[in-house]
Amino acid sequence: MKLDDIEIKTLPKYLDRRGNLSVIEQEKEVPFDIKRAYWIYDVPGGERRGGHAYKTNDEFIVALSGSFDVVLDDGKSRRTFQMNRSYYGLPIPHGMWREIENFSTNAVALVLASEDYNEDDYIRDYELFKHSAK
Ligand code: TYD
Repeated sequence: MKLDDIEIKTLPKYLDRRGNLSVIEQEKEVPFDIKRAYWIYDVPGGERRGGHAYKTNDEFIVALSGSFDVVLDDGKSRRTFQMNRSYYGLPIPHGMWREIENFSTNAVALVLASEDYNEDDYIRDYELFKHSAK
Protein backbone atom coordinates (compact mmCIF):
# COMPACT_ATOMS: atom_id res chain seq x y z
CA MET A 1 0.00 0.00 0.00
CA LYS A 2 1.36 3.41 -0.96
CA LEU A 3 1.43 6.39 1.40
CA ASP A 4 -1.09 8.25 -0.79
CA ASP A 5 -3.57 5.37 -0.51
CA ILE A 6 -3.53 5.22 3.30
CA GLU A 7 -6.59 6.66 4.98
CA ILE A 8 -8.27 6.63 8.35
CA LYS A 9 -11.07 4.06 8.39
CA THR A 10 -14.30 4.75 10.23
CA LEU A 11 -15.02 1.63 12.28
CA PRO A 12 -18.55 0.35 12.81
CA LYS A 13 -20.18 2.08 15.75
CA TYR A 14 -23.32 1.23 17.62
CA LEU A 15 -24.70 4.19 19.48
CA ASP A 16 -27.54 4.04 21.96
CA ARG A 17 -28.55 5.78 25.15
CA ARG A 18 -26.31 3.42 27.18
CA GLY A 19 -23.20 4.60 25.34
CA ASN A 20 -21.19 3.65 22.30
CA LEU A 21 -19.65 0.43 21.04
CA SER A 22 -17.21 -0.07 18.17
CA VAL A 23 -15.84 -3.29 16.79
CA ILE A 24 -12.91 -4.64 14.77
CA GLU A 25 -12.77 -8.02 13.07
CA GLN A 26 -9.70 -9.39 11.34
CA GLU A 27 -9.81 -9.58 7.54
CA LYS A 28 -12.70 -7.10 7.65
CA GLU A 29 -11.80 -3.73 9.15
CA VAL A 30 -8.22 -4.94 9.72
CA PRO A 31 -6.66 -6.23 6.49
CA PHE A 32 -4.62 -9.06 8.11
CA ASP A 33 -4.81 -11.86 10.69
CA ILE A 34 -4.21 -10.33 14.13
CA LYS A 35 -1.34 -12.07 15.93
CA ARG A 36 -0.62 -9.51 18.63
CA ALA A 37 -2.15 -6.51 20.38
CA TYR A 38 -0.36 -3.93 22.49
CA TRP A 39 -1.30 -0.54 23.79
CA ILE A 40 0.49 2.69 24.61
CA TYR A 41 -0.72 4.81 27.53
CA ASP A 42 0.45 7.24 30.23
CA VAL A 43 2.63 9.02 27.67
CA PRO A 44 4.17 12.13 29.29
CA GLY A 45 3.35 15.44 27.59
CA GLY A 46 5.57 16.18 24.59
CA GLU A 47 6.87 12.61 24.25
CA ARG A 48 6.91 10.72 20.95
CA ARG A 49 6.72 7.00 20.31
CA GLY A 50 7.72 4.93 17.34
CA GLY A 51 10.54 6.34 15.29
CA HIS A 52 11.01 3.16 13.33
CA ALA A 53 9.73 1.05 10.44
CA TYR A 54 9.04 -2.68 10.17
CA LYS A 55 10.33 -5.00 7.48
CA THR A 56 7.28 -7.30 7.50
CA ASN A 57 4.93 -6.38 10.36
CA ASP A 58 1.66 -4.64 9.42
CA GLU A 59 -0.24 -2.69 12.04
CA PHE A 60 -3.60 -1.10 12.67
CA ILE A 61 -3.86 1.70 15.25
CA VAL A 62 -6.96 2.82 17.13
CA ALA A 63 -7.24 5.83 19.45
CA LEU A 64 -9.24 4.03 22.12
CA SER A 65 -9.23 7.12 24.28
CA GLY A 66 -7.98 10.69 23.86
CA SER A 67 -6.08 11.69 20.75
CA PHE A 68 -2.66 11.60 19.08
CA ASP A 69 -1.09 12.11 15.67
CA VAL A 70 0.45 9.35 13.57
CA VAL A 71 3.11 10.60 11.15
CA LEU A 72 3.85 8.24 8.27
CA ASP A 73 6.85 8.62 5.98
CA ASP A 74 7.66 6.46 2.96
CA GLY A 75 11.17 7.91 2.60
CA LYS A 76 10.00 10.51 0.10
CA SER A 77 7.06 12.28 1.69
CA ARG A 78 5.28 12.51 5.00
CA ARG A 79 1.62 12.57 6.05
CA THR A 80 0.07 13.23 9.44
CA PHE A 81 -3.11 11.48 10.54
CA GLN A 82 -5.04 12.94 13.45
CA MET A 83 -6.48 10.13 15.51
CA ASN A 84 -9.10 11.86 17.61
CA ARG A 85 -12.14 9.57 17.56
CA SER A 86 -12.54 6.20 19.29
CA TYR A 87 -14.02 4.80 16.06
CA TYR A 88 -11.06 5.74 13.85
CA GLY A 89 -8.59 3.07 12.73
CA LEU A 90 -5.40 3.60 10.73
CA PRO A 91 -3.76 0.79 8.75
CA ILE A 92 0.04 1.06 8.70
CA PRO A 93 1.67 -1.26 6.17
CA HIS A 94 5.21 -2.51 6.71
CA GLY A 95 7.95 -0.49 5.08
CA MET A 96 6.59 2.80 6.42
CA TRP A 97 8.51 4.97 8.89
CA ARG A 98 6.12 5.92 11.67
CA GLU A 99 6.06 8.20 14.65
CA ILE A 100 3.26 8.83 17.12
CA GLU A 101 3.19 12.25 18.77
CA ASN A 102 1.00 14.96 20.23
CA PHE A 103 -0.61 12.61 22.77
CA SER A 104 -3.45 14.14 24.75
CA THR A 105 -3.81 13.50 28.46
CA ASN A 106 -5.16 9.99 29.04
CA ALA A 107 -4.64 8.95 25.41
CA VAL A 108 -4.61 5.19 24.81
CA ALA A 109 -3.34 3.85 21.49
CA LEU A 110 -4.31 0.27 20.72
CA VAL A 111 -2.04 -1.35 18.14
CA LEU A 112 -3.02 -4.58 16.37
CA ALA A 113 -0.14 -6.34 14.64
CA SER A 114 0.18 -9.02 11.99
CA GLU A 115 3.39 -10.57 13.38
CA ASP A 116 4.86 -11.69 16.69
CA TYR A 117 7.22 -9.23 18.37
CA ASN A 118 10.65 -9.51 16.77
CA GLU A 119 13.34 -6.89 17.27
CA ASP A 120 15.01 -8.05 14.02
CA ASP A 121 11.94 -6.81 12.13
CA TYR A 122 12.61 -3.20 13.19
CA ILE A 123 14.49 -0.57 11.19
CA ARG A 124 15.40 2.05 13.78
CA ASP A 125 17.90 4.07 11.72
CA TYR A 126 16.14 6.64 9.52
CA GLU A 127 19.00 6.98 7.04
CA LEU A 128 19.06 3.20 6.61
CA PHE A 129 15.29 3.24 6.14
CA LYS A 130 15.48 6.01 3.56
CA HIS A 131 18.14 4.12 1.67
CA SER A 132 16.16 0.85 1.71
CA ALA A 133 12.94 2.67 0.70
CA LYS A 134 14.48 3.85 -2.60
P1 TYD B 1 9.00 -0.08 20.94
O1 TYD B 1 8.56 -0.91 19.79
O2 TYD B 1 10.34 0.59 20.86
O3 TYD B 1 7.90 1.02 21.28
P2 TYD B 1 7.39 2.25 20.36
O4 TYD B 1 7.34 1.76 18.96
O5 TYD B 1 6.03 2.61 20.88
O6 TYD B 1 8.35 3.38 20.57
O7 TYD B 1 8.94 -1.02 22.24
C1 TYD B 1 9.23 -0.54 23.55
C2 TYD B 1 9.66 -1.72 24.40
O8 TYD B 1 8.63 -2.70 24.52
C3 TYD B 1 10.88 -2.45 23.86
O9 TYD B 1 11.73 -2.76 24.96
C4 TYD B 1 10.34 -3.75 23.30
C5 TYD B 1 9.07 -3.99 24.10
N1 TYD B 1 8.00 -4.65 23.30
C6 TYD B 1 7.73 -6.00 23.48
O10 TYD B 1 8.39 -6.69 24.29
N2 TYD B 1 6.74 -6.57 22.77
C7 TYD B 1 6.00 -5.87 21.87
O11 TYD B 1 5.09 -6.44 21.22
C8 TYD B 1 6.31 -4.48 21.65
C9 TYD B 1 5.55 -3.66 20.65
C10 TYD B 1 7.32 -3.91 22.40
